[in-house]
Amino acid sequence: MNNKKIIIFKTIDNMADFVIAQWKTISEKAIKGKGYFSVALSGGRTPEFLYKKLSNKRTLPWNKTHVFLTDERYVPYEDEENNLHMINNTLLTRVSIPKKNVHPISTSEVTPLESAEKYEEDLISFFRTAETALPKFDLILLGIGEDGHTASLFPETPSLKEIRHFAVTVSPKDKTKKDRITITFPVINMAKNIVFLVTGGNKAKIVKDVIEGKNNLLPAAMVEPEKGKLFFLLDESAGSLLKKD
Ligand code: 6PG
Repeated sequence: MNNKKIIIFKTIDNMADFVIAQWKTISEKAIKGKGYFSVALSGGRTPEFLYKKLSNKRTLPWNKTHVFLTDERYVPYEDEENNLHMINNTLLTRVSIPKKNVHPISTSEVTPLESAEKYEEDLISFFRTAETALPKFDLILLGIGEDGHTASLFPETPSLKEIRHFAVTVSPKDKTKKDRITITFPVINMAKNIVFLVTGGNKAKIVKDVIEGKNNLLPAAMVEPEKGKLFFLLDESAGSLLKKD
């Protein structure tokens, strides 16, 4: 990965300020160019601080912002593990984003496979992709698990090799993790801006392996945007094992 930018922040507040500034610039440019801004948000614990800070930014163009999820755990919405539940509580219920601009991954009344198919249909109809074209997000926020997964693209799962579908189901090898629905690498790598947010010393080793390792089988290391920008935003703990330039 030669087009990546690694930035280490003293505090997560500084990291959030950086992301918010990027969000503002990217969204204004996208809306000027095509009338809307499309972003895919990750779940997990790391981005909660950012979403809460973002929710105070009332002047961002929420009415022209379309929020998708990078992935979802196949649990009911009411479950604490549900990503949309967390993203609603920390962000979307606190800003004036139209309901039609939020694109959830359904986890009720459908099987995981039906949910992935529905989500793929939503991606296709929203991005109006022809057979060959791919959904092109203006911004995708990603995290990294300690096993190197990102979104719900888990090691040793067929999802890593998916090149046809935009969304698939995943059953992580780690059976303590719920079944998932995730966007796939073709969609991620088509994005104009991809931002990894990683904090905590427990992620230092996997961050080093993803950024410096030769083991490009780690899912997070397979994020290689075709033409877009790639940022690794780390706190000092998560970046503590990286070679100092
Ligand atoms: C999810 C996320 C996932 C997450 C990593 C890191 O649904 O869990 O999309 O990819 O970003 O697991 O999670 P933490 O931020 O909780 O460490």
